[in-house]
Amino acid sequence: MGVDKRKILFVCLGNICRSPAAEAIFNKFVEEKGLEAHFEIDSAGLDAYHMGEKADSRMRAYASTRGYNITSISRPINDKDYQYFDMIIGMDRSNIRALISRAPLESHRDKIFLVTDFSSKKVFKEVPDPYYGGLEGFVTVIDILEDSLKALLENISPSIEQ
Ligand code: 4NP
Repeated sequence: MGVDKRKILFVCLGNICRSPAAEAIFNKFVEEKGLEAHFEIDSAGLDAYHMGEKADSRMRAYASTRGYNITSISRPINDKDYQYFDMIIGMDRSNIRALISRAPLESHRDKIFLVTDFSSKKVFKEVPDPYYGGLEGFVTVIDILEDSLKALLENISPSIEQ
């Protein structure tokens, strides 16, 4: 019998910085727990400006120093994503507003989450856009995502039958 996979889509504005990092970090956490068969993980952007591009070179370079391999190619979110994925997880409040307003059905709104809401620390309310800033912005992205995504996986793991 096939495994019932949790399908998770991480979303940011351009799909070249934050959501590709979230995808890589969550993939690594899932692998470390040996749960690869139970998840399908992807990322997408609210804009199509960077469609077809690799993730931002600054994001890829810094993430690799923290042990994460970012391999995604930017693509915009589409209506089928709202149907297909179980959880659609945005990086900031602006992402959440855009995700809600673009949802093809009202019922899809129940799938939309803000990534920092999973964190028990509640230090950060969102993942700030690092695109126009310096290296500290990319450090902050990884710090917040590690904390929030560890909590997300702990939240989901008990419902997975081994
Ligand atoms: P992301 O960062 O949403 O984390 O991928 C951005 C990437 C590109 C732009 C803005 C944010 N941009 O304006 O092109």
